[in-house]
Amino acid sequence: MISYEVYKVAHLAAVLVLFSVLGGVLVHALNGGTRAANMARRAVAALHGLAMAVAIVAGFGLVARLDLMSGGVPPWVWAKVTIWLIAGLLLALPYRRPALARPILLVGLPFLAAAAAWLAVFKPGN
Ligand code: HEM
Repeated sequence: MISYEVYKVAHLAAVLVLFSVLGGVLVHALNGGTRAANMARRAVAALHGLAMAVAIVAGFGLVARLDLMSGGVPPWVWAKVTIWLIAGLLLALPYRRPALARPILLVGLPFLAAAAAWLAVFKPGN
């Protein structure tokens, strides 16, 4: 049985990798870089996909270990799943809308990271 601690390390490592990858793509796009011009695009896509998968699996592993599912999935967990979905969309968005790369890097990513951490720590409505 996978422990709470192992799920937590996996979850945190995955979200750190996820946000690092998104930061790299955002900086590349705001410098005028295209997807094709990104020499690391395959590695970036692979890391993003792997980090997304580990983040959600370990996230629900944590939910299970914390016995949070008795009354169904709590609303703050759905909010975190929404943040996770947005992180999924953010790989392609900077190339499609390069003008958004700077505001996403400077405001969007920090806001999403802070919101995700806040939800996990305060568990509003739990
Ligand atoms: C990209 C999105 C996400 C980010 C940035 C993120 C970030 C974090 C962080 C920083 C923590 C540590 C908080 C602490 O010290 O307790 C955490 C814990 C946690 N996360 Fe996430 N998370 C994300 C997605 C998810 C998803 C999708 C789920 C559920 C499916 C989830 C469920 C949890 C749970 C249950 C905890 C443990 C709370 C505790 O130990 O009390 N997270 N997350």
